[in-house]
Amino acid sequence: MKLLIDDANIDNIKYLYEYFPVSGVTTNPSILFKNKKDPLETLVEIREFIGDDQLHIQVLSDNADDIVKEARLLKEKFGTNTFIKIPTNKEGLKAMRLLENEKIKITATAIYSPTQAFLASLAGAVYVAPYVNRIDNLGYDGVETTIKIQNILEKNQTDTKVLAASFKNTNQVLKLAEYGISIATCSYEVFGKFIEDNNVNKAVEDFVNDFKAIDKDRRTWTDYLG
Ligand code: E4P
Repeated sequence: MKLLIDDANIDNIKYLYEYFPVSGVTTNPSILFKNKKDPLETLVEIREFIGDDQLHIQVLSDNADDIVKEARLLKEKFGTNTFIKIPTNKEGLKAMRLLENEKIKITATAIYSPTQAFLASLAGAVYVAPYVNRIDNLGYDGVETTIKIQNILEKNQTDTKVLAASFKNTNQVLKLAEYGISIATCSYEVFGKFIEDNNVNKAVEDFVNDFKAIDKDRRTWTDYLG
């Protein structure tokens, strides 16, 4: 499973790129609103920083023809490794089919059910993005739904992969890694929780203190060898 950053704040993105093995960035209109900056300038800055890594940008039009227009313009502006996020409703599915023969990569988004995912795969989406935590909040099981989607895609021999989204805790992500889900996109807050563990901090502190007790002037191997 690869990890993407579900955030548009450039400082958060730079920080996560420095510390975590990430493969790109996903955005949506609400994430861009939360960033409180010009959305186009923000996306240009993100693209410049992440180079050719995956960048997912969501369209806003509510009819297929206009979605197609937006998708073409976004691909033109942000390059080939840009994934156009299209909501998986009736107009979205129509747009996906209209774009099928163009070299535009589609992430079918706002997926709450396996049926939507199945239809999006038939319509040519590269990724389908189930909203794990939002599904949990509806009283269903987001992880189970995502695994079901993966099984349906595998059994139907489609090239479409799962990009799991909307996480509120690391356990949701890890459970999906166990099932080999292709990609998960996580917020800055969820990334923070991945390695927040006082047992680990205590173990590292004990190692450092024990070594320091050997010779108080030589704390690391660099002090011995450098
Ligand atoms: C993917 O990019 C989705 O838009 C996003 O993960 C939704 O997350 P939320 O449920 O936290 O808003």
